[in-house]
Amino acid sequence: MDRHRSLRMTLLLAAGAAGCSSSNSRDIAVVTLAEPQAAGGDAGAPDDPAAPTPRTPRAAGWVQEPDGTVHRASRVRCDATIAQRACSGTERSFQCKTDADCREGPRGKCVSAFGQIGAYCGCEYACESDAECGASEVCVCKGTGALREEHSVCAKAQCAVDADCPGSTCGLSAYFNGCWEQVTLACRTKDDSCRSDADCASDTIPGAACVAPDIDGESVRWQCAGISCAIGRPLVVDGRPRAARGAARDDWRAPAELDVASLSPEVREGAAAHYAAVAALEHASIASFARFSLQLLALGAPAALVGEAHRAALDEVEHARLAYGIASRLAGRAIGPGPLLEAATAPLGAGVVEVVEALVEEGCVGETLGAAEGRELSQIAGDPALAAALARIAADEERHAALSWRALSWMLATFGEPARAAAERAFSRAVARYATDPAPGPAAHEALGVLPARALGALRREVLAEVVAPCRAALPGLSRDSAPAAPSSLSSLGGRG
Ligand SMILES: [Fe+2]
Ligand SMILES: [Fe+2]
Repeated sequence: MDRHRSLRMTLLLAAGAAGCSSSNSRDIAVVTLAEPQAAGGDAGAPDDPAAPTPRTPRAAGWVQEPDGTVHRASRVRCDATIAQRACSGTERSFQCKTDADCREGPRGKCVSAFGQIGAYCGCEYACESDAECGASEVCVCKGTGALREEHSVCAKAQCAVDADCPGSTCGLSAYFNGCWEQVTLACRTKDDSCRSDADCASDTIPGAACVAPDIDGESVRWQCAGISCAIGRPLVVDGRPRAARGAARDDWRAPAELDVASLSPEVREGAAAHYAAVAALEHASIASFARFSLQLLALGAPAALVGEAHRAALDEVEHARLAYGIASRLAGRAIGPGPLLEAATAPLGAGVVEVVEALVEEGCVGETLGAAEGRELSQIAGDPALAAALARIAADEERHAALSWRALSWMLATFGEPARAAAERAFSRAVARYATDPAPGPAAHEALGVLPARALGALRREVLAEVVAPCRAALPGLSRDSAPAAPSSLSSLGGRG
C-alpha cells in the first residue's frame, strides 16, 4: 500500500514534474552525579563568590540549584547503558538491524520501538565521557535535570564546566520543542532574560522553558521558549520560532463541539496545553506567510505565487481560530493570542539564498510533513469535531506545501546555481534534523490527536523518503538524498490512509 501517493502526486505536480514515478515526565529534579575527578581531568569547580551557591559545599559533577537549574562544576563519568530492548528482527520496518548498523555516534545500539505506524528498529547512542563525544560537545548523564532522553547523550556545548564561564556557571538546557529535545550547555550571563523555567511561568505559552542560546545561532542570551514544532510554517526570527503569548480573550476561537465530559482533568489540561501551543504557532504562521509574500514581491515573483501566499495567510487565521477553539474547549476557559511584536519588528531578509533556505526547511519539508501528520491525526482522533478540524487543517497544509514546491521550482528556474546550492543545503539540514525520533512529549494522547513521539519520528522519516525525496529529485539539478536509512519496507506499513 502506498498511502502517501496522493500527497506525493499533488506535490510533484506543484513542482512541475507530473508523471514522476513513486519511490519506494518532564520530571525535573534528579540531582545528578557528583563524582571524584574522572577521565578528562578537569580542574573542578571554581571557587567563585559570584557564582550561585551550589547545594554541596564543594561542588563537583552536575549540580542542581534549589530553583531547579543545573550546572556542571566538573567532568564526570556517566552511565552509558541503553536500557531499551534490542531489535529482535520481527519488527515491521528497520532503520538498522544490528548494533553494527549504528555508527553515527558512540556506543550505538539498534533498539526496538513501537509507534502508531508499527514496530520498528532504530539507532540510539549513549556516552560515558566527553571524550566519546564530538568537538564542542559534552556527555550529559542520564537523569540530569530536565533531560528526557532515556540514556546519557552527547550535547552541543559552549562551555564544558563552570570554570569556562568566569563569574558565572555553565548551565544545562534540555528543551523539548514539541518534536525533539535540544540539549545544550551554555554560560549564564547577566543579560539573560530568564534563569529558571519558573521565570517563564508568566509566559502563557504552555510548556514554556528557559532555554540556552542556540550555539550555532545569533542569539547569546538564555530566554523563554515554548513548544515550537508543530504542523505548519513557523515564524523564525534569529533562528528561533516565535509565537505570541497566550491571553484570556474570546475573539480568536472558532466554535468547538468536542465532547470533554469523559476526559479526566489531567488529560484535559495536558491536551489543552498542547492545542494552545499549536494555536500560537498557527497564529505565527499568519505572520510567516505575510513576510513570505513580501519576499516574493521583492524577488519579482509571478502574481499567482504572491496571491497564493496571501490566501495561505488567511488559511492560517482559520487554523489559529480552530486550534484556539479546541484549546479553550479543553481548558474550560477562553484562550487566545497576545501581541506578536516580531511579526512587524523583525528584519525582513529578501536575499535569494535566505529565502530559498527558509522556503525549503519551513515549506517544502515542514509543510509537507505537516500535511501528512495532519492527515494521520485526523484519522486517529476519536472525537468527530476534532477529526473534522484536523482534516480541514491537513487539507490546507497540503495546498501550502504545494505552494512551497511551486515557489521553489520558480526560484530554481529564475536564480540558478545560488538557489540550487541553497536548496541542497537546506534539504540536507532538514533530513538530518529528522534522523532521530523526537523526545517524548508531555501530552501524547492519540484519541485527542496527539501522536507519541516515536510514532511521529517514524511517520516523518516515511514521508521524507516517500514524498520529499522524489519531489526533490524531480526538480532540475537537485539530488535525491532521501531520509537517512529509510527502510524500504516503510511503504508497506499498515497505515490508515
Ligand atoms: Fe496552519
Ligand atoms: Fe500552513
